[in-house]
Amino acid sequence: MYYLSIKGKQKLKGSIRISGAKNAALPLLAATLLSKNRVNISNIPNVVDVKTLLKLLDNLGSNSNIKDGIVSIDTTKVKSACANYDIVRKMRASILTLGPLLARFGHCEVSMPGGCAIGQRPIDLHLKALEQMGAKIELKQGYVVAKAPEGLKGTTIIFDKVTVTGSENILMAASMAHGVTKLVNVAKEPEVVQLCEFLRDGGVKIDGIGTTNLTIFGSYGELLDMKDIKVIPDRIEAGTYLCAGAITNSKITISDVNPKQMESITLKLEQMGFGFEMGENSITLLPAQKISASDIETSEYPGFPTDMQAQFMALCTQADGTSVIDERLFENRFMHVSELTRMGANIKLKGHSATVEGDMKLIGADVMATDLRASSALILAALVAEGTTKIHRIYHLDRGYEDLEGKFSALGANIERLEE
Ligand code: UD1
Repeated sequence: MYYLSIKGKQKLKGSIRISGAKNAALPLLAATLLSKNRVNISNIPNVVDVKTLLKLLDNLGSNSNIKDGIVSIDTTKVKSACANYDIVRKMRASILTLGPLLARFGHCEVSMPGGCAIGQRPIDLHLKALEQMGAKIELKQGYVVAKAPEGLKGTTIIFDKVTVTGSENILMAASMAHGVTKLVNVAKEPEVVQLCEFLRDGGVKIDGIGTTNLTIFGSYGELLDMKDIKVIPDRIEAGTYLCAGAITNSKITISDVNPKQMESITLKLEQMGFGFEMGENSITLLPAQKISASDIETSEYPGFPTDMQAQFMALCTQADGTSVIDERLFENRFMHVSELTRMGANIKLKGHSATVEGDMKLIGADVMATDLRASSALILAALVAEGTTKIHRIYHLDRGYEDLEGKFSALGANIERLEE
C-alpha cells in the first residue's frame, strides 16, 4: 500500500491543467450501453473509478480501449445484464448501469452498492422511478433484480429529493422507453446536463435540458446512434487545486476549466478575500491580504457542492475568525474532522453542522484517508502544517484525482508517494 508524504509550509506557484470530470465520464460510459455503434469519449480522466466502470462494462461484454485520454468503447456485443458484487462494491456509481441495462434488455441484475463512508446513500429513488415506468423490482441476495419484459413505459416522475445519479439513471432508462417520460425535480449539475446532451446527440428528443423539469421522448426500445463526445472539465478537481492555492495563500493558475460551472466555489473564495483573473478556460487565484472566515451551506447545483465541503473546511482552519459549515446533503460526511483535529484543528461537530476555529497552527501527523474528498482536505491541511504529514489509505484519492502528486509537484508542493 502507498501513502503520501507531504512537507508543509511551502508556497505554491505555477499552472496546471484540470482533467475531465470523473462524475461526467461515469454516466457517459454507462450510457454507451444504449448505443448501436462504437463511441469515442475523449478527455477521460485516468482515475480508478473510470477503470472500475470500464472493467464492469467489459465483464458485461463490451470491448474498450483507452489511448491518450480517449476511450473507444463498443457495447453492441453485450449479452449479460448482470453487474456482479465484486465490481459494484468497489464503486457505488456502478448503479448507473441499472437504468440502461434494464431499458436495453428488459431485465437485469445489479448488485446493491455497499455501505459507504459518507452515510447510507440509499437508491430507493432510482428504484421507485423505474417501478413507476413499469419495472418489477425485487431485492434478492444483495442484488436488485429488475424486469420489464414489455419494455419501460414513459410516465411522469417527481423525484422526492434531488439525486444526481438517480436523475442520470432514469434519464438513460427513459431514452429507450416506450413513450414520453416527464421528470420533475431533476438534478441540473453540469454532469447531468452533459449526459442529456449525449443522449440528445444520439437521437433522443429531450426538452428542458439544463432545467429541473425534463421531457424525454423515448426511442421505443431502439438503440441510439450515439456520437463521440468530450468530457467536461472536473469542477471538483479544479476547486480542490484552487483551495490548495488559497490555503497556502499563493498565486496559481488552473487551465482547461469552465469558470461558469465553478461560480459557487470562486464566489466563496472571493468572500474569503481571494482575487481572480478569469480567462475563457482558465482561472488564476490571487492571494488574499487576509483570509476571512465564511459560513458555508452545501446544496445542489448551482449551490455550494458537498464535494467541496471538506476542502473548504481545511481552508477555514487558516481563516481569520470562526466559520460554520452546514452539510445538507449527506448525514455522515464529516469523517475528515477527526483527522484534521489530529493535525491541530479545532472543529466542533453538532448534527450536520461543523464550527471551525480559524488561525490554527497545524502540525504534520499520520492521518488516514476515509473517502475521496475528505482525503483531499488532508492534503490541503498538510500543505500548511509544520513538518511532515503522512496520509495513509490513499486509494480513496486515486479513485478521483488524476496524477495527484504530479500536479501538486508541478505547483511546487513537496509531496511524494511512498510504499508503506
Ligand atoms: C453524486 C456524485 C457525488 C456527489 C453527490 C451530491 C457521482 C458519481 N457522484 O452522488 O460525488 O457528492 O452526487 O452532489 O456523480 N438519496 C436518497 N435516495 C436515493 C438517492 C439519493 O435518499 O435513491 C439522497 C442521498 O442520500 C443524499 C441526496 O439524496 O442525501 C443526494 O444524493 P445523490 O445526488 O443521489 O448522490 P449520488 O448521485 O450518489
